[in-house]
Amino acid sequence: MVRILSVGLIVSTIALVAWGVITGYDNVLSVGRMWQTPGIKPYENPIPVMAAGSMPVNGGEALYRAVADDEIAAPFPLTEPAAIASGKTAYQYYCIHCHGKNFDGYGTVGQSFAPPPGDLRSAKVQSMPEGVFFKEISYGIPGGRQPALDTTMAVVDRWNAIAFVKSLGRRQ
Ligand code: HEC
Repeated sequence: MVRILSVGLIVSTIALVAWGVITGYDNVLSVGRMWQTPGIKPYENPIPVMAAGSMPVNGGEALYRAVADDEIAAPFPLTEPAAIASGKTAYQYYCIHCHGKNFDGYGTVGQSFAPPPGDLRSAKVQSMPEGVFFKEISYGIPGGRQPALDTTMAVVDRWNAIAFVKSLGRRQ
C-alpha cells in the first residue's frame, strides 16, 4: 500500500514539475503563442466597395486581338508628357530587366538572350507603327522571343510604355 502511494506521489510530482517547466517556458517566450496573437476571421470586416471601373463592361483585350495591326491606334497622343512620364515607370516595372537601363538589350535578364533584345532607340523600333508595337508587346513577336505581356500589363500601361520608348528618339 505504502509502495503504491509512494509511486503515485513520485509520478504526480514528476508530472507537476514537467507541467511547471513547460508553462514556465511558454510564458517567457518572447514571440507569443498562436492563441495570444490576434486572429482575423473571414468576413469579419466588411468587404471594401470595388472602385468604379474595376470591372470591364465593354471593349477589353479581345477587341485588340481581333483586329489587324494598322487598325489599332493609341487612345491618346503618344507625345503627351503625362503618358511619357507614366511610361517611364511602366518601363521600369515591365521592360528594364530585359531591355536594360540604356535601352540596348543588356538588362539583367536581357543579356542572357543570344542575341540580346534589340536596341529600342534603333530606327526600326522608333519608326514602328504604334499598332505593330502594341501587338508585339501584348502578344509577343510571332516566332520571336519577346514575351506576351497582355496578362501582365494593363492596356494603358502598354500605351504609356510605348509613348516612353518613342520619346527616346533615334540613336544615330
Ligand atoms: C523577358 C524579356 C523581355 C521583356 C520583359 C520585354 N522584352 Fe521586348 N524583347 C525581348 C527580346 C528577347 C526581344 C527580341 C525578340 C526577337 O527578335 O525575337 C524583344 C524585342 C522587343 C521589340 C522589337 C525590337 C526590334 O528590334 O524589333 C520591342 C519594340 C520591345 N521588345 C519592346 C518591349 C517593351 C516596351 C517591353 C516592356 C513593356 C518589353 N519589350 C519587355 C525581351 C523582352
